[in-house]
Amino acid sequence: MQEGRSSLSRMKFTVSGGNSPEIPLDFDYQATTPCAPEVVEVMKPYWNDFWGNASNRQTRAGTQASAATSLAREKLANCLNVKPDRLIFTSGATEANNLALLGHARAKALKLGKPGHLITVSTEHHSVRDPLRQLQREGFSLTELMPNSQGILSAEKLSQAFKNDTILVSVMFANNEIGVVQPLAELQELCHKRGIILHTDAAQAFGQLNIDFHQLGADLLTISAHKIYGPKGIGALVMRENVPILPLQWGGGQEQGFRPGTLALPLIVGFAKAAELSINNLMERQTRLRFLRDQLWEGLQQKIPALIINGTLENRLATNLNFTVLGIRGHRLHRALRPFLNCSSGSACSNGEPSHVLKAIGRTSKEAESSLRLSLGRETTIEQVNKAIDIITKVVLDLRKA
Ligand SMILES: Cc1ncc(COP(=O)(O)O)c(C=O)c1O
Repeated sequence: MQEGRSSLSRMKFTVSGGNSPEIPLDFDYQATTPCAPEVVEVMKPYWNDFWGNASNRQTRAGTQASAATSLAREKLANCLNVKPDRLIFTSGATEANNLALLGHARAKALKLGKPGHLITVSTEHHSVRDPLRQLQREGFSLTELMPNSQGILSAEKLSQAFKNDTILVSVMFANNEIGVVQPLAELQELCHKRGIILHTDAAQAFGQLNIDFHQLGADLLTISAHKIYGPKGIGALVMRENVPILPLQWGGGQEQGFRPGTLALPLIVGFAKAAELSINNLMERQTRLRFLRDQLWEGLQQKIPALIINGTLENRLATNLNFTVLGIRGHRLHRALRPFLNCSSGSACSNGEPSHVLKAIGRTSKEAESSLRLSLGRETTIEQVNKAIDIITKVVLDLRKA
C-alpha cells in the first residue's frame, strides 16, 4: 500500500467559493489564468465580423483591422508608458524572450564581428535559459549568476561579473516559481554605465506590479497576455529605440520587420483589454491578495510543523507562496493533493525535473520536489484560502503519519 493512499482517497472536501466538490480548488494562477469575461467580449467581433488582415489596407476590412490593431497597441502601450511603436507583438513571452536574446546578441555579433559575453541569473524561466544556451553553442560566452538564499541577485554580484566584452544582461522582473522581485533599478544603472543592454522577462510582473517602462530603465521587456486574464498565444516585446535586434524570421515586414506574419487581431484586442483591466485598481487588488496570501502562509505554519518558505517574503509578488514540506516524498505529496488542489511543484514548463530555481536558492533535489507553489487569482476568497489550508494540512499530516 502506498503512503497514506487509502485514507487520502476517502477524503471529502466540500469546496466553496465557486468550485464544486469534484473540481480541485485553484491555486495555480501563475501557470495561467482564465480569460476575463470582458476580454472575451471585446474579442468577439474580431472572429467573424471584423476579420480583415491588418496589413491589407486596400480593403475596407483590412483598414478596419489596421485601425483596431493601432487602437489596441496604443492602449497596451499606455499601460506601460511607452510609445505604441515600441511594442512588437509575438506569440507569447517565450517568443518575446527568444527575440530579445537571440535577436540582440546576434545583431551585436554581426556588428562587432565576434560573439560577446552574456550574463543572466540561474533562476530564469526556461524560455530565457534555453536561448542563452543556444547562443553559447553559437560561440557566445555565458555567465549564470547564483542569487542569494532569498532568490535575489545583488547589484554587487552583477558588477563583479562584467567583462570587457559583455553585451547583454537578462534578469527576470519577478520569478515564476518563488515570486521574488529583482532590484532592477539598481541593476539597470550598472548596465547602462557600461553601455550594456538589459533585458527583463516581466511575464509574471506585468499586471501585478506597476510597470513604467521609461522609469524602469530596461532596454527590452517581455510580457504575455495569458498571465493577466488575457488570451493564450499573444505576448509582446517592448523595445527601447535603437536597440539592435536581428529578427528570428523573415517575411512580410509586419511589426517593423522584427516579427513578420499576419497579426492575430482578436488576440491583440483581447491583450489590450486584459492589460487595461490588470492596471485597474492594481494597488487595492494587490493589497487584498497579499493579505490573503499571508493568511494562507500563517494558517499553514500554525497547523503544519517543518515548513520552509522559499524566497524572501518581502520583495515578492502578492499572489505567490512557495514552501518546502520537510519529511515527505514530493511525488506522494503532489499525487495526494491533485484531486483536491491545483498547485504546482515548480514552473508549468519544468518537465518534472526538480526545480532549478529552488536548487539555486539552496534546496536539495529532494526538498525541491516536496515543495509547493501556490498562486492566488484575482477572485480568490478567504473561504478558499481556509479550505486550501485544511486540504494541505490533512494531506501532509496523513502522509507524515503513514
Ligand atoms: C517568467 C515567465 N517567462 C516566460 C513564460 C512563457 O510565457 P508564454 O507561455 O507566454 O510563452 C512564462 C510562463 O510560464 C513565465 O512565467
